[in-house]
Amino acid sequence: MHVRLDDPVDLDAFRRHARQLLAAGVPPDRVEWNGERAGGGAADLFGESGESGEAGDAAPSAAPVAAARHAVPASFVALCGDVVLHRDPQRFALLYRLLWRLAHEPALRHDPLDADMLQAQQMAKAVHRDIHKMRAFVRFTRVAGDDGLEHHVAWFEPDHHIVEANAPFFARRFAQMRWAILTPERCVEWNGQALAFGEGADRREKPPPDAGEQLWLTYYEHIFNPARLKVAMMRREMPRRYWHNLPEAALIQPLTDAAQARSQSMIDAPPTVARRIRAPIALHLRPADGTAPADLAELRAAAHACRACPIGALATQAVCGEGPLAAQHMLVGEQPGDQEDLAGRPFVGPAGQLLDRAMAQLGWARDTVYLANAVKHFKYELRGKRRIHKTAAQREADACAHWLDSEISLVRPQGLVALGATAARALLGRPVAVQAERGAWLHERRDGRPVFVTLHPSALLRLADGERAEAYARWLDDLERARGTVSAAIAA
Ligand code: URA
Repeated sequence: MHVRLDDPVDLDAFRRHARQLLAAGVPPDRVEWNGERAGGGAADLFGESGESGEAGDAAPSAAPVAAARHAVPASFVALCGDVVLHRDPQRFALLYRLLWRLAHEPALRHDPLDADMLQAQQMAKAVHRDIHKMRAFVRFTRVAGDDGLEHHVAWFEPDHHIVEANAPFFARRFAQMRWAILTPERCVEWNGQALAFGEGADRREKPPPDAGEQLWLTYYEHIFNPARLKVAMMRREMPRRYWHNLPEAALIQPLTDAAQARSQSMIDAPPTVARRIRAPIALHLRPADGTAPADLAELRAAAHACRACPIGALATQAVCGEGPLAAQHMLVGEQPGDQEDLAGRPFVGPAGQLLDRAMAQLGWARDTVYLANAVKHFKYELRGKRRIHKTAAQREADACAHWLDSEISLVRPQGLVALGATAARALLGRPVAVQAERGAWLHERRDGRPVFVTLHPSALLRLADGERAEAYARWLDDLERARGTVSAAIAA
């Protein structure tokens, strides 16, 4: 049995045919689907002619009954809507096989690992990705239309049959413009009121660059931040196969080549004045009368509002700790870094990743400890586009100390692990020589909680390559001891 669909993305036609086949009991291996654009017209399904509706209209009257009997989950209908947009010629065969199996194998609905279902889901994902890439990478060029008006034309090469599905997005986004998107398979045009679709175009019809393109390149060059360059992520987001249609792609190589040097020259440059100082936050959020916050949410809001020292006005947000209440251990670092400041979570940047690695090696789950910092705001110096970490001055750390005290009272950990000198001083209330005092529990706090001092992970990151392995192994020993001996330390 051959089924030919005139339009490769006509979900309704597919559904109509599939329902008829199912109702007639035609198994999937007896059906050959053809949904490609070339040719078209006749469908010899059930010997009927014409695909676009006639076969469905002439369907046996049993069809609706059968359809009701074989109701499929709504998620499958949505999946079909995505998969028909895939370029794979086997997509209709796969969908009909799934439909057939859903009707005949009730267990399929509950099998998340079924190979057909997984394949369809992968195809739907690829279609979504393609739709997203088209939205991100279409670049319009201005041209004068025959009607004397300004038009915008773009050339794009999608991987799948997504032009029709994506066109309404562009109509909404560029509602005021007259535009056309040319692709090898389909073209779409918006005249300000309605969308019109036509045959594919040739790459040579792509208009030449206009003045706007130069403007875009200049803008792109300016927003390119060498301090935040992540080549692997950029390649993932902007795969090379799109580059030949992206004017800015020509800038990527020179910009990435120069990124390291530019970033270093920012570090070497004198500090620049912060562009944005955050306004003071309402005083009522601060515990002015010295009362401690009642819970962690209140602590977070109050620390965020704190302007007891100048750091808070420059940071994105206060970064309080995270982890379970009554955790056995509270690990305390120095202050949030650049990435923690943006994410609002402690230890998510490079130092945090090293800590994660160490904890994983020890089989110590991160979510069983409470991770906090002595200072709650990120202190930095701006050099060009780079925010260079600055150690908080002692008076700034002192101004922050009560937030950590409140956090300790609320979390009630059994033991405190100070990562580095700032944390050690905040927890013990005196200067601490980390190398000299590391590796043992100290009993000096008035609340009776023992404090274990060790290195901050950043100290390891700063070591020369030749020194790091040994220092890391010693640090692991410290952490393991802190983990294993807390009960004895409490009893001591
Ligand atoms: N360093 C810290 O001390 N704390 C963090 O949260 C991140 C880096």
